[in-house]
Amino acid sequence: TQPGVLAGVNIVISAGPTREPLDPVRYITNRSSGKMGYALAAAALSSGANVTLVSGPVSLPVPAGAKLIPVETALQMYDAVITHSRTADIYIGAAAVADYRPQQLAERKIKKGDDTSNIPLAKNPDIITAVANLQPKPLVVGFAAETDDLENYAKHKLQSKNLDLIAANWVGQTEGGFESDRNALQVFWPGGQQILPMTDKNTLAAQLLKLIAEKLHEKNPV
Ligand code: PMT
Repeated sequence: TQPGVLAGVNIVISAGPTREPLDPVRYITNRSSGKMGYALAAAALSSGANVTLVSGPVSLPVPAGAKLIPVETALQMYDAVITHSRTADIYIGAAAVADYRPQQLAERKIKKGDDTSNIPLAKNPDIITAVANLQPKPLVVGFAAETDDLENYAKHKLQSKNLDLIAANWVGQTEGGFESDRNALQVFWPGGQQILPMTDKNTLAAQLLKLIAEKLHEKNPV
């Protein structure tokens, strides 16, 4: 991205995993390291944007200039993302939100002898769909993490979640996806697509942001 291309634009980015507690010592989570979302935050800052980074627990340095809102659970991420997206021009959902949480939080550590063969789960709200329903609606960019049939699942999510753009990546492969420093994306929007080949996440973030800036300028021509 060129410096200044997103000058004064308010961007909310979610990054990292969420943590859904079971008892005071255990939680359900996923493999997201936050690298993709943090790389997007850094790229957005270099192009002049105001960046709010809503982050699940990760061990990465916060890009200088970003406003960090640390969260743990999907419900906390939902509240923070909705609050900040009301005044955002762009929302990018790079976080790997847990789709389910344990229905109950045990006050004490669950013991081995307890009947824990079943953990009743409750469905978490879909954060990005809620952002796409805000009025006014920011430009909404989703990710899709897939282990198979990437194009079909991504296109379905683009439509069903009412997104403006979706960046799909393979996970569970030898290269790219979760935790890796590298990634590749297949980007889809209504009526178009582009492949961003395997590279480091910082380069990839700048390439994706360039596409996002184009979409924003199509949406709000000067
Ligand atoms: O963090 P890294 O280790 O660098 O890995 C990067 C990544 C693989 C996590 C990232 O590139 C990525 O794909 N993030 C989205 C992961 C994901 O949860 O995808 P999904 O296909 O399950 O969800 C689709 C979209 O809906 C995503 O934008 C997600 O943020 C959003 N979602 C999902 C569930 C939910 N309850 N609320 C949501 O907003």
